[in-house]
Formats: sequence, C-alpha cells, structure tokens
Amino acid sequence: MKIEEVKSTAKTQRIAAHSHVKGLGVDEKGVALQVAAGLVGQEPAREACGIVVELIKAKKMAGRAILLAGPPGTGKTALALAIAQELGSKVPFCPMVASEVYSSEVKKTAVLMENFRRAIGLRIKETKEVYEGEVTELTPCETESAMGGYGKTVSHVIIGLKTAKGNKQLKLDPTIYESIQKEKVEVGDVIYIEANTGSVKRQGRSDSFATEFDLEAEEYVPVPKGDVHKKKEIVQDVTLHDLDVANARPQGGQDIMSVMGQFMKQKKTEITDKLRKEINKVVNKYIDQGIAELVPGVLFIDEVHMLDLECFTYLHQALESTISPIVIFATNRGHCTIKGSDDIVSPHGMPLDLLDRIMIIRTSPYALEEMIQILKIRAQTEGIAIDEDSLQCLGDIGVKTTLRYAVQLLTPSYLLSKVNGRDVIHKEDVEEIRDLFHDAKTSARVLTTDKDKYLH
Ligand SMILES: Nc1ncnc2c1ncn2[C@@H]1O[C@H](COP(=O)(O)OP(=O)(O)OP(=O)(O)O)[C@@H](O)[C@H]1O
Ligand SMILES: [Mg+2]
Repeated sequence: MKIEEVKSTAKTQRIAAHSHVKGLGVDEKGVALQVAAGLVGQEPAREACGIVVELIKAKKMAGRAILLAGPPGTGKTALALAIAQELGSKVPFCPMVASEVYSSEVKKTAVLMENFRRAIGLRIKETKEVYEGEVTELTPCETESAMGGYGKTVSHVIIGLKTAKGNKQLKLDPTIYESIQKEKVEVGDVIYIEANTGSVKRQGRSDSFATEFDLEAEEYVPVPKGDVHKKKEIVQDVTLHDLDVANARPQGGQDIMSVMGQFMKQKKTEITDKLRKEINKVVNKYIDQGIAELVPGVLFIDEVHMLDLECFTYLHQALESTISPIVIFATNRGHCTIKGSDDIVSPHGMPLDLLDRIMIIRTSPYALEEMIQILKIRAQTEGIAIDEDSLQCLGDIGVKTTLRYAVQLLTPSYLLSKVNGRDVIHKEDVEEIRDLFHDAKTSARVLTTDKDKYLH
C-alpha cells in the first residue's frame, strides 16, 4: 500500500453562510453560554452537541448516529459545522448533502461508501530515518545540460541543516530539489528529509525568525534538538478515502503518462471494491501491529429526507460494520413519505428501524431577541453597518418567516442603502428589499390568491 505520498482529499466545505460560527460555545462544564463562539441561544441543542464532541474524542461514538431535527433556519447546519470546529483538524469531518447521491454516473451506494471512507481516519505512526534541522544553506549546483544546447540542469543540491546540537551539510540528488521547491522551502525553515525515500517535509519557520513581519500566518517551530541525522517518529493523519485515491492513481515513473498526468491532474480513476478490500486488509494489519490507530470521524448528511429507501438500507448496514464513522443527520421535515417507497409515511422521512437506533437532538425556533443577536453577528461578519431600527425590523421579519430569509436580506439591503447614498442600513432599505424579494410563505400565498393566473 502506498502511504508515502498520500494527499489529503478532504472536501472543502460550503460554509459561507456560517462563517461566523467558530465552535459550540460551551464552557468546561459543558454549559452553553448565551452568546459564544458566534452561536446564540439554542442552549439545550448546543449542550447535547458538546456531549457528542466529548464522546467522539473519547472514541465512544463510533457506529452511532445522531439526528438534528427542527424547523428551517433553526441552526442545524450551523451546529454540525460547530461540531466540526470543536473536533479540530485531526478528526475527519465529511459534510455532504443527501441529494449528492443522485448522479447519473455513479451508483448511490458508491457515493455513500466514498463519503463513509472520507469520514474514517487513520493515524499512522512510523519511525523513520531522517535528516532534520533548520535550513542554513540551499544551493542548487548547475552544470551544462547533458543534452547540449543552452540549457543548464541542476546536478545536485547542497543543503545545510542546523539543530540545537550541530550542523550538517548534505549533497542531494536533483529529484529532491524538486520536492524542496514544491514545499517552498527557504533558508530559515525547519524541514526533514526522509533518508529512504528522499521526500521532503516543511514543518514551519524556525522560531528564531518569529519577529519577522509576515503577511501570511506562519507556523513557527523550534529548532530541532538532537542530531541532524536521526530516527524520528512521524505521525500521518489520513482518511481511508485518501488511501483509496493514492493507490488508485495510475503509478509509474518518469514516462510519458506521468508527464501527461501533470496536465490531467484531476483525472478520475476508478476506486474498485477490490481495491478497498485490499486497503482494508492492510489497514487492519497495521492496526494489529500497532503502527496505525483508527480515528472514527464524522459523516454529516444534511437534508437526510432526500435519501431513498435503498440508501437508508445501505446506511443501516454500514453503521453495523466494525469500521464505521459517527453519522450526523439533519432534517427539517416532520412526517413525510420516505423517498423510493410507495407510500410509507414516517417521522422525518426516515425508516423507523433506522430512526430507532438514532439519538435525536431538537432545535427550536428563535425568539425575537435571539434573532436580532444573530443578525447583528452576521452583519458584523459581513462588514455591514446597520442601525438598531433596521435590526429590530429584520428580527420581526425573521420571526414571521425564517431566520435564513432575514439573514439573506442583509446584503441586498446594504447595497440599496449604498445606492441611496448612505453606508448604514436604514429601515426603509429593509422594507423595500422585503417587498422586492418574497419569502417562501408569502410566495405560496400569492400562488393561492392568484391561482387562476398561473399555468397548471
Ligand atoms: N444559534 C445560532 N447562532 C448563530 N447563528 C445561527 C444560529 N442558528 C442559525 N444561525 C445562522 O442562521 C442561518 C440559518 O441557519 P442554518 O442554515 O443552520 O439552519 P438549518 O436549521 O440548517 O435550516 P434548514 O432546515 O433550512 O437547512 C445560518 O446562516 C446560520 O449560520
Ligand atoms: Mg440546513
């Protein structure tokens, strides 16, 4: 199995609407503060989510499922993302929307399987022989190109590494120079080079440079202790899906295909069941040998009522398997027909036998005061100035319709205020925008009153 060059394949999350959410905002005792980490109110649900986070960290949740249930705009998606933030980057979190399973190219269960594997982490610990230190010198040595002509090629690289204990100068192969460039290594960075494979890893900037002014956030690391040449325990966090992808890629050396490969980066290679089985076998062996440790992460399936009976059956069975993540569902549906069934009506549109093994966390509608607090936070995050009257007005709109609708009115209202030559939203702006853009309920009312004007 290939684990040297495993790249993370984590999905980028669609969080624009939730960028103000930084965590669950519960204290050490697990009590939710009224306003904290960008979240407002919804205290019981936040405390329940806090317990889920603790259980996940203590590895007591694998193979279990949670359902966030409540009316539209009550913060279900926001809570799931807050859980992800609390878990940090070491625990995999894979968000998906149920309708992603409907694709003409891939089977529904294959999509679910892929996302399951994105949510299962593996922490691999290996002791490797490395050269580690702060880079003191980085000199590529060029010679006339062997092909003749004007080109010059790098024949070798001289690199100086410094630790607290000593210095070492290494003469390295040009292929290593490529990985040094890929990692954007500069003098003053702390790196290590694996002795066997020659792969280079940049760990951060040496903290003796910590007073430099950088625009980008840099991670500063101390100058390593011990010798430059040593044995080092290297920890890699990957997901099973990362391993699937790394091993499915057509492998090969410097041939035409790999040159082409650079141009067709995102080329789809099929991950077969056979490959997955192979990988599971190796993973299990690693776990038995104590080299690797399983880190069950979270699969978040939003709008779960969009799944059909076939998917639910598959999920139910997958949850029973020994390697399973924690699954968090969310839905705003009450009683409705399960998709793909003739007419089985069930709570939340989910089969009863699956619901039966799920723990349900409820979210409830916000009071006016809470709506206003949330709108205020959203306005701040988006850099929108708004006066108290307009906030009150948007809050009222939110109570009558949904929080999401009220939040969505912020940006257009701000644009309108600018058109009107101001840079603060006034109540008139909000009212005008409210009349221009309908919410779902108003629109439905129009459809009923003007029924005969529409096509049927
Ligand atoms: N308690 C809260 N604190 C701060 N912001 C919140 C809170 N609840 C919801 N929001 C914000 O309000 C908006 C709507 O919430 P969200 O999308 O989470 O609702 P939802 O319950 O998932 O709705 P739906 O059922 O329609 O998917 C989002 O921008 C979200 O970040
Ligand atoms: Mg949602």
